[in-house]
Amino acid sequence: EAHKIQLAEKIQLDPTPRVQVIGRVMRQAKQKNMLFVRLRDGTGYMQCLLAGDLANTYHAQTLTLESSILIKGQLKAVPSDHDAPMDRELHADYFEIIGKAPGGEDAITNKVQMNGDAQTLLDMRHLALRNEAISSVLYVRQAVEHAFATKYWELDFVKVSPPALVQTQVEGGSTLFEFDYYNEKAYLTQSSQLYLETAIPSFGNVYCIEKSFRAEKSLTRRHLSEYTHIEGELDFITFDDLLTHLEDLMCGVLSIVLAHPRTASMIKKLNPDFTMPERPFKRMKYSDAIQWLNEHDIKNEDDQPHVFGDDIAEAAERKMTDIINKPIFLTHFPTEIKAFYMQKDPQDPRVTESVDCLMPGVGEIIGGSMRMDNYEELMEAYTRNGIPSEPYYWYTDLRRYGTSPHGGYGLGLERFLAWLCKQHTVRDTCLFPRYMGRCKP
Ligand code: 4AD
Ligand code: MG
Repeated sequence: EAHKIQLAEKIQLDPTPRVQVIGRVMRQAKQKNMLFVRLRDGTGYMQCLLAGDLANTYHAQTLTLESSILIKGQLKAVPSDHDAPMDRELHADYFEIIGKAPGGEDAITNKVQMNGDAQTLLDMRHLALRNEAISSVLYVRQAVEHAFATKYWELDFVKVSPPALVQTQVEGGSTLFEFDYYNEKAYLTQSSQLYLETAIPSFGNVYCIEKSFRAEKSLTRRHLSEYTHIEGELDFITFDDLLTHLEDLMCGVLSIVLAHPRTASMIKKLNPDFTMPERPFKRMKYSDAIQWLNEHDIKNEDDQPHVFGDDIAEAAERKMTDIINKPIFLTHFPTEIKAFYMQKDPQDPRVTESVDCLMPGVGEIIGGSMRMDNYEELMEAYTRNGIPSEPYYWYTDLRRYGTSPHGGYGLGLERFLAWLCKQHTVRDTCLFPRYMGRCKP
């Protein structure tokens, strides 16, 4: 009987036992009396050789790409010029087709053309996922998620799971997905921040990795309707502590990810020029960024020079990050262009203790701030922003029952990955991206 192994298993080749593998055909090459089949099973790849009578069977002759197949035989070492994964080949003495994939017009290569148009490729994403480059981004994704959990564990952060169905907004009414909740108005959450704030009095520093939802009515390289939001909230800190924590978190996560050989080799392939960011990250105040943009003749959305109070739009932000070409902490944004809950800078009340972390190629990947911790100031902030305070009674209460200087941030996992894996758009970092106009497959 053959011993069942996974394709990536590093078993002794000499003396070689009879083994059995299962996988899908990702490549095949026919020669006289020989059929080379490259299999994939998620753990790795293996070259298999069907020779002689086996190669001439009906099923071998009609084998199609992406068919699932079981093969038994002996593993042999082969010279490296055979281009076989791990320089080994399975010399088959038996095979059976488990699920035959269509050939001809319906062959996967006709359905999914990797250099075809992006929309068709997205319609066919359920099949395109089998592509090596596409799936390697998703492999790195789960490694990154795991690394965040590991780093948070190391830092003694407690993980909580806030709700996705809520009745409060966090980041402005214009991107809320609203729905009917048993005859009451409710929303899909934009951020778990307010709920993380409720948890710090019990647990100290907390984090969550949850979906956030934004009804973004624009099509850009970095906006999704549903994205994975990694959020942290820290109690009894200063703004400077928040920035230091963010550097530590980012570098810690990258170290964990790069210490894992399979993930590191995928990142190397996807983004050959990737280098570990240097600490401390560059820090730049919003007002200095405005000046920097004007010095570099980068205009605002109305094609005018930037003035204090302007939003730094995606295009301008990207130009700036690409020129500076390293991580930037952009800090101290004006109160009017930031969310209601942000703490004002005690030195300059026109601005907030806020930070965006910008990365080359993507721009903003993190948004964070210190939180307004004074009851009266928060009540004024609701009024100023036209937000009815009643639904926020639980958030406001936090300022009444033992308030504290605290702050936190949200990191968009897809944007982090677009940066790390050098992807043109965040759409390529999701299993099935959701954005305006796309909710399938
Ligand atoms: O800057 P944002 O809106 O900040 C918040 O939601 C805070 N309440 C987070 C917090 O302090 N706990 O979003 C945070 C990050 C952005 O920097 C970006 O990486 C990502 O979330 N993000 C999106 N990613 C993909 N598609 C979208 N539509 C996104 N909107 C925000
Ligand atoms: Mg933001």
